[in-house]
Amino acid sequence: MIIKAHDLQKTFTTKSRKGPQKVEAVRGVDMEVAAGEIFGVLGPNGAGKTTTIRMLTTLIRPDAGRAVIAGHDLLKEPAAVRSKLGYVSQAGGVEDTTSARAQIMMAAKIHGVADAAGATADVLERFDLTEMADRPGRTLSGGQKRRVSIALGLVHNPPLLFLDEPTTGLDPQNRANLWDRIRQLRESGTSVLLSTHYLDEADALCDRLMIVDHGRVVAEGTPAELKREVSGDVITLRLDDPERAAETLKPLARETRLDGDVLRVYADDGEHTLPALLRALEEQGIKLSSIALDRCTLDDVFLAKTGRSLRDTGAAA
Ligand SMILES: Nc1ncnc2c1ncn2[C@@H]1O[C@H](COP(=O)(O)OP(=O)(O)OP(=O)(O)O)[C@@H](O)[C@H]1O
Ligand SMILES: [Mg+2]
Repeated sequence: MIIKAHDLQKTFTTKSRKGPQKVEAVRGVDMEVAAGEIFGVLGPNGAGKTTTIRMLTTLIRPDAGRAVIAGHDLLKEPAAVRSKLGYVSQAGGVEDTTSARAQIMMAAKIHGVADAAGATADVLERFDLTEMADRPGRTLSGGQKRRVSIALGLVHNPPLLFLDEPTTGLDPQNRANLWDRIRQLRESGTSVLLSTHYLDEADALCDRLMIVDHGRVVAEGTPAELKREVSGDVITLRLDDPERAAETLKPLARETRLDGDVLRVYADDGEHTLPALLRALEEQGIKLSSIALDRCTLDDVFLAKTGRSLRDTGAAA
């Protein structure tokens, strides 16, 4: 395990007109991240993602709980923990007036990299930034800036990289490009913890993830496990005799639901259920006008665990 955290908690106290106000940002988070995986923290705005990452990167001290990161105790050996990780904040942190090269070189020196110029050139090349490396930060596009901010977090070649909402605000092409680069990091042996409120991103990119809401973990597993846990696949059928079809298909499904002339059949493994289902309908002489097979999405998982849709929180894509 590259991260093993237990019962992390953080409460902020803010001043308001009514006196001090407490915000329980993180209320007891457990987390295990294996070396070499892309681990996602998925949740709506204010769920506690950034606060969790800031605790794990030693930027703020947890009120309670403990963690071991890359073999070092978070509370007892914060400097050793820091030397093992790269951190790219939600805001990015690329400066306007100096060049990408100068900023990355500075980061390399701060981390004590022996050949700072060489390491900077390498990471610029890896992120296709060599061409614009000597232009001031403000002249870079959004996607280029995001790549510079990741290069800043990677120049000392840490085994573990934290990315706080790395693709927010990027267009689909830049997003896909960044997903590929994050996958390449995994291939080169870097473990990645990223936060996101995009369901499709968590689904496509993460080996495992946890879903957080109001500072608590509501679910954890691989995207496939999480989806299987909730409802598997759904087959939507339109047919000439839906009542009789429902009776016929009941033994083949986990659940059937009739809604007007639409019949929904829930199955653990839709692809394998489909042929048997079609055969049964044919044997009964029931005519089919349309059929669709859909996978349950992570939003169904969030809905099942919290009673709300992640889409309704205004956070999801
Ligand atoms: N320094 C702080 N002082 C007071 N409250 C804070 C502070 N930082 C975070 N909070 C509060 O803690 C809660 C969790 O915030 P956090 O930034 O961790 O959420 P998040 O999941 O990263 O959200 P987003 O997706 O919007 O980035 C929020 O209610 C936030 O207002
Ligand atoms: Mg955040």
